[in-house]
Amino acid sequence: MIRSVVRGIGSALPRRIMKNAEFEKLVDTSDEWIVQRTGIRQRHIASEDETTASLGEAAARKALDDAGLTPDDIDLIILATSTPNNTFPASAVEIQERLGMRHGYAFDMQAVCSGFVYAVTTADLYIRGGLARRILVIGSETFSRILDWNDRTTCVLFGDGAGAVVVEAAEGEGSIADRGILAASLRSDGTQRDKLYVDGGPSTTCTVGHLRMQGREVFKHAVGMITDVVEDVFAKAGVSADDIDWFVPHQANKRIIDASAKKLGIADEKVIVTVDLHGNTSAASVPLALTAGVERGQIKKGDLVLLEAMGGGFTWGAVLLRW
Ligand code: ACO
Repeated sequence: MIRSVVRGIGSALPRRIMKNAEFEKLVDTSDEWIVQRTGIRQRHIASEDETTASLGEAAARKALDDAGLTPDDIDLIILATSTPNNTFPASAVEIQERLGMRHGYAFDMQAVCSGFVYAVTTADLYIRGGLARRILVIGSETFSRILDWNDRTTCVLFGDGAGAVVVEAAEGEGSIADRGILAASLRSDGTQRDKLYVDGGPSTTCTVGHLRMQGREVFKHAVGMITDVVEDVFAKAGVSADDIDWFVPHQANKRIIDASAKKLGIADEKVIVTVDLHGNTSAASVPLALTAGVERGQIKKGDLVLLEAMGGGFTWGAVLLRW
């Protein structure tokens, strides 16, 4: 059977690093509060010349280099983002143009922090459906542009960045020993959309708006939603927590990551953590953490890797793959 195998990976971060202490001059907060409640120590913030499309392009180029491929080899670009350069056209087509691709097709996907998990699952279906052989799946965000910098309950939590993978069709046996994407589970619940949203948009206020969040409410739901989809993926693939080599969770809050790993029975040393360095980069968080896991020499070919994310909507999902 056809499997979607990750052939290359890369990430890109804005030049400017903003440490927690800088927020002490902007709002009533402290480095100690931020570290203790979230685990975040710093985040990257995009300068004027850095955009979702430019960061996405940089991550895509690294993933292509890592795969030993060029843009000519790619059939489709799927960009997961909630902070596109423009309402339309999709920032994915801008990345297509920046890469010099004059063939194939490209589109954006919007599932907030779950965007990359949704996009990887979609890419797998395009590959198995025969609509593409090689796909660039990118998560790129510039959440700093939609933050209310006077709201201490949200502005300290988010950062900018991008991560990308090249997934490619390969022949597998149909067992969980195969390399590639093995199982996925996606969910959303629109009744919860007021818990985490942006208070503007083209069809309502004609503005971009700012991020608003009932943090405690999101926190309350997060661990249960995450463990539900992970257990669904385990059941679909016939594996258990003990089989997992690396857990790559959405990087929103260290306390949510720790509580999810504990509830699932995944040992701390199998969890990839980058929230301390990047903050919450929404759809970029999982591919940024994946890249870090590979670059740190943790994730190796043949390892069983579990991805998970949850965010605004609510949306949530998990993907199991063999690296
Ligand atoms: N500095 C200092 N004090 C603060 C700050 C801050 N930056 N932010 C809030 N506080 C205060 C609050 O005002 C509150 O004060 P009060 O008790 O006087 O009212 C107190 O700290 C406690 O606030 P809580 O909201 O209860 O703090 P909590 O421990 O829940 O931590 C946090 C807040 C970090 C936001 C947490 O709720 C969280 O991480 N929530 C989940 C966020 C998340 O996972 N998002 C993922 C999806 S993101 C996406 O999809 C785009």
